[in-house]
Amino acid sequence: MQLVAIPFKCADKPTFDQDDRDILIPIRGFSLVSYEQLEYLSKFIGSRKLVEVFSGVGYVSYWLNQLKQPGAVIDAFDDRSWFIGEYWLSDEYQRKAYYGEQQSAETIEYENYDIVMMMYPNLDDPISEFVLQRMTTGQTLIYYGEWQGGNCACDEMFNYLHDNFTIIDTQELDKHQIQYVFYNTDSKYTSDHFTIAFKR
Ligand SMILES: C[S@@+](CC[C@H](N)C(=O)[O-])C[C@H]1O[C@@H](n2cnc3c(N)ncnc32)[C@H](O)[C@@H]1O
Repeated sequence: MQLVAIPFKCADKPTFDQDDRDILIPIRGFSLVSYEQLEYLSKFIGSRKLVEVFSGVGYVSYWLNQLKQPGAVIDAFDDRSWFIGEYWLSDEYQRKAYYGEQQSAETIEYENYDIVMMMYPNLDDPISEFVLQRMTTGQTLIYYGEWQGGNCACDEMFNYLHDNFTIIDTQELDKHQIQYVFYNTDSKYTSDHFTIAFKR
């Protein structure tokens, strides 16, 4: 049995800096989701069927599966293609993440789900736009990560999102944000770690 790190409560750890993140990312992935956010997401999902694409180590879907309401389905897929620095290079990650199956986003049957969730999709990779294009009217997207101009997804995905989706829920999910301080080579800024649900 694998041990999965317990989620933070907002009150315990409201702010992360880059040192925190360097420790946490290999264990939990990029999305530092609080326990409160997981509870809120679980209620938002209700008894619907959710698929997480690009699920990484599967930490979020693991916990959503623990907290899920009767009838809900939480599936997670990642092609495990990612090699970056020391992150996720372990044999354990390559063999099996905490939760989810090894499968490309290109072959997921999106029509079987009510909700598609993506967190921190690869920067400048058209696959995130491909996923949005596969979604049909009535399906909901939960996007969690940096916004256009940040380190996630591609301009084409954000443009497609603006043109084809409507925001249905931001404030409630934002209420449970954990902030983190993100550094890059030439600047230091505080980045909102946000979750937004869109409806197509
Ligand atoms: C930046 S990581 C984010 C992982 C996770 N969502 C998180 O927040 O920690 C992007 C992930 O997308 C996966 N990935 C990239 N291209 C993919 C594809 N075509 N199909 C499925 N997964 C893919 C990588 O293996 C990697 O785990």
